[in-house]
Amino acid sequence: MPDRRLTFHTQEDFNGLRAAGRLAFDTLEMITPYVQEGITTGELDRIIHEFILKNGAIPAPLNYRGFPKSCCISINHVVCHGIPGERKLLNGDILNIDVTPLLNGWHGDSSRMYTVGKISRLAQRLINVTYECLLRGIQQVKPGHTLGDIGYAIQDYAESQRFSVVRDFCGHGIGRVFHQEPNILHYGKKGEGLVIEPGMVFTIEPMINAGKPEVKILEDGWTAVTRDRSLSAQFEHMLGVTDKGCEIFTLPN
Ligand code: MF3
Ligand code: CO
Ligand code: CO
Repeated sequence: MPDRRLTFHTQEDFNGLRAAGRLAFDTLEMITPYVQEGITTGELDRIIHEFILKNGAIPAPLNYRGFPKSCCISINHVVCHGIPGERKLLNGDILNIDVTPLLNGWHGDSSRMYTVGKISRLAQRLINVTYECLLRGIQQVKPGHTLGDIGYAIQDYAESQRFSVVRDFCGHGIGRVFHQEPNILHYGKKGEGLVIEPGMVFTIEPMINAGKPEVKILEDGWTAVTRDRSLSAQFEHMLGVTDKGCEIFTLPN
């Protein structure tokens, strides 16, 4: 039987989550100047690994269910869970870097898109729309709204721009545990699903495809790619529900 209980976090828990989220933000900032044509994703992973350790945390992805590296790097038609390795960044690539430091027992989970050299207009539009999807989802996070309101806001905007929402992966509850209840779907219907309450902590991490929504997993058991090889983008924030709305832990302040 899966454990369907939700975890509600206290103000003290929020302090720990804020610190972990801040380190995730700092990691994504730190790596930005290294994201250049010619560097390998394995080298980016090593720099991220060292930075997280230096800051007193552990990279939670490393050995998580057998994942072999310290972050996920997903290029172009890779939707998520790309494994860092020998692949060199090329002019025109778009990539997501997803980091999850575990600091004093608390996870901080965030990802964003990076670009290499001159990218296509379609790629830039996909990135912009995906970020806007995340913001629109976050705007729905307040007590009394439902998880369906979040999914609806994301899906409605993505599809209005003729892009599609990946169904096979979702946001998730998080805290002392990396992935826990509830699942945060990036599609849905207004007013459906769980009612949002103060103390809930979860990620929103929409994956938006330029083509069709279907994905497949490569032989390595991790790398998810679009079946039609269309471009895919993703942004992720981790947030806590407050009395009035939410606090985004993976942004400064
Ligand atoms: N950080 C990813 C997420 O947003 C999870 C990566 S799990 C890993 O949930 F094993 F692939 F690292
Ligand atoms: Co996540
Ligand atoms: Co993540």
